[in-house]
Amino acid sequence: MNKQTLIQTVARLMESPKGILAIDESMSTCGKRFAKLGVPETEEKRREYRELLVTAPEIEKYISGYILFDETIRQSTKEGKSFTSILQSKGISIGIKVDQGLADLPNHPIEKITQGIDGLSKRLQEYKSMGASFAKWRAVYTVGENTPSVECMQENAILLTKYATLCQELDIVPIIEPEVLIDGDYTIEQSYETNAKNLDIIFSELRNSNVFISGVILKNSFVFSGKEAGKRVPAEKVAEMTAKCFKAHIPAHIGGIVFISGGQPGDEAAINLNAMYQAGPFPWPLSFSYGRGIQNEALQAWAKNPTDVAGAQVLLLSTAKNNSLATLGKYK
Ligand code: 13P
Repeated sequence: MNKQTLIQTVARLMESPKGILAIDESMSTCGKRFAKLGVPETEEKRREYRELLVTAPEIEKYISGYILFDETIRQSTKEGKSFTSILQSKGISIGIKVDQGLADLPNHPIEKITQGIDGLSKRLQEYKSMGASFAKWRAVYTVGENTPSVECMQENAILLTKYATLCQELDIVPIIEPEVLIDGDYTIEQSYETNAKNLDIIFSELRNSNVFISGVILKNSFVFSGKEAGKRVPAEKVAEMTAKCFKAHIPAHIGGIVFISGGQPGDEAAINLNAMYQAGPFPWPLSFSYGRGIQNEALQAWAKNPTDVAGAQVLLLSTAKNNSLATLGKYK
């Protein structure tokens, strides 16, 4: 492990006022989003859409890194330029989602563990040779009466730690993403409790395995109420509770923290991020790593009118800029 390389990659990714764009939807997730908008679920359509995202002019002003999916890291523009070479020419770091989706957690109905540890080191080596300097692994947790269970949190923490270890051995920065899902009618207090307990378990596991914490980026949910809990909690309260939770349960020397947009409605992800600025300062750099929170409008416009790529790219740039402003507390 070369700690200096890891620290440099973290610094590049967390450079203010930029964030990370996640375009790493699996084929099935991407397919579902396409189907809703009437876009054919084909490899060529996915390539065409991702070309729009990768070639958006000036996106590098607001985005430091793109997280790609296995299919996407191998794709090229219609003219035959690889997506990775385009990102590199813009100075954007290349990331890769390396988990292989979710499986049922035995004896725990509705709970999930993440798959993909088998053969991971080999896959990471290949991605590194293709230019990837960081990776992502997502675990999910459902907040309910008896969930997440300790077993779910513990099993996922072990997997996140194995993944982080394998990444760092190859000087790849691991983004660890414990996503507390927005689905459900839970209160913000329940979200606080869940995040707090889960972060404690994860960091204890990471520490026990000597993972280099300053060379890790945490991708976390905001502490907020569930989507079905009725009226959304105001951003100031979300920021206050999130800041309190993070300060108490995340080591001060973590490389950086980025948020998931996680299906928050409208521009709530930008508004909540903006409010976080007022709740600072923090010991760690803070930004976003949004998928839907940045892509939604561009995807809808492109689905309606696939020939107007430039128009969709303008929308992409505008949401990326808004979220960049939000990292500075300047989003209105
Ligand atoms: P959303 O921001 O759309 O939730 O996606 C981010 C992500 O990377 C989920 O794994």
